[in-house]
Amino acid sequence: MANPRLRALSRCRKWAKKDWAITAVGFTFILFALTLLFDSRNSDTPSPTIDHHSTQGLVPLTLLNRAKATGAFCLDGSLPGYHFQKGSESGSNNWLLHIDGGGWCNSIKTCNVRKGKALGSSEYMDRLVPFAGILSRHPSQNPDFYNWNIVKIRYCDGASFAGHPESEFKNGTKLFFRGQLIWEAIMSELLSLGLSNARQALLSGCSAGGLATLIHCDEFRDHLPTDATVKCLTDPGFFLDEPDILGNRTISDFYHDVVQLQCIFPHQIIKNVRTPLFIVNPAYDFWQIQHVLVPVGSDPRGYWKRCRLNIKECDSSQIKILQGFRSSLHKALSKLEKDKEGGMFINSCFVHCQTWMAETWHSPNSPRINNKTIAESVSDWYFNRKPPKKIDCPYPCNPTCHNMITPG
Ligand SMILES: *[C@@H]1O[C@H](CO)[C@@H](O)[C@H](O)[C@H]1NC(C)=O
Ligand SMILES: *[C@@H]1O[C@H](CO)[C@@H](O)[C@H](O)[C@H]1NC(C)=O
Ligand SMILES: *[C@@H]1O[C@H](CO)[C@@H](O)[C@H](O)[C@H]1NC(C)=O
Repeated sequence: MANPRLRALSRCRKWAKKDWAITAVGFTFILFALTLLFDSRNSDTPSPTIDHHSTQGLVPLTLLNRAKATGAFCLDGSLPGYHFQKGSESGSNNWLLHIDGGGWCNSIKTCNVRKGKALGSSEYMDRLVPFAGILSRHPSQNPDFYNWNIVKIRYCDGASFAGHPESEFKNGTKLFFRGQLIWEAIMSELLSLGLSNARQALLSGCSAGGLATLIHCDEFRDHLPTDATVKCLTDPGFFLDEPDILGNRTISDFYHDVVQLQCIFPHQIIKNVRTPLFIVNPAYDFWQIQHVLVPVGSDPRGYWKRCRLNIKECDSSQIKILQGFRSSLHKALSKLEKDKEGGMFINSCFVHCQTWMAETWHSPNSPRINNKTIAESVSDWYFNRKPPKKIDCPYPCNPTCHNMITPG
């Protein structure tokens, strides 16, 4: 077939059984930041005293006007957006991109809900956002990237910037599935702002943005000068395709629906990333425990009700199951452990997305492995300083964890 659209449409349906079996994709959920609290009791050191008002500049939203030309719209048809802070001095030609997380929508109904929220429409996005953690302008919070050009890419397509318009207008609804086009429009804008001359660059993302990072990492690399240093960081973007506690394949059914709905091509997800990759991943990823291992429907008697929200409430048989989940993660990561250019920070904490918060990225009491913060470990890898693979001992051995708690 000569028509690329038609070719795309036919490819859209070609997910074989083995594709599903080896797919590892990620999601996060919108309530994350709203409902969770750090368990500071788990740490022996006092809470970090970071003054958010003086250390986190607010950065304005830029709407992507050039998206009109290609129809690269958010789910509701609005323009996508990003926040940009220009680099200075030694960082002027270096670029750090961070893609937001926010789960996926797997049905017309759930995608429609997003049309009325920032995750599906720029109408609802905050016009000013703080830049913290890996985005921070302050060397004390962000020792190696603070003066780079820093871009926070807003997520509004519901499918990790991987959907294709071939799957639109199902059953007469008006939803735009244009993630791939949004990605291309954002790249084109940033390249024109100086990314095309980058000397050093790092593409990163949290959760669904971590998956987008995996999907687009090599494309990103190919846009930049061949002699530039280009690497990618997912936090986390590496999600397990594991059965739940009843043995049902809850999460793989969910992936299946997202892929079918937004017409994601297998080659976008199932491939080896050529570009050097660093994985930040808690061994007991909070989101995965709640959505992969113990989804709500898997626990009708409420036996896991407290444990799935707070690891300190887990009994010994539940901890055993969590240790099994950790082993599956380590097994899945074993290939990357052998990769000389890859790096990892797999801490035994109950948390999700640790790079964009000052407290977990780099602060006096942030999580550490071998006494290194995530920021220090990522820098050691990015700048080829030290052996970059850090794997923690099993829970509850690490007192530096910031374990999440959802108020029950
Ligand atoms: C479209 O409608 C049909 C019939 O009501 C239903 O079976 C199908 O799942 C719907 N498709 C989507 C994508 O919602
Ligand atoms: C999950 O597994 C149980 C027991 O094997 C079964 O009874 C139940 O119907 C399954 N639930 C779903 C949603 O597939
Ligand atoms: C851990 O690192 C900090 C500096 O980041 C240092 O002050 C401290 O002495 C180190 N602790 C150990 C046990 O090495």
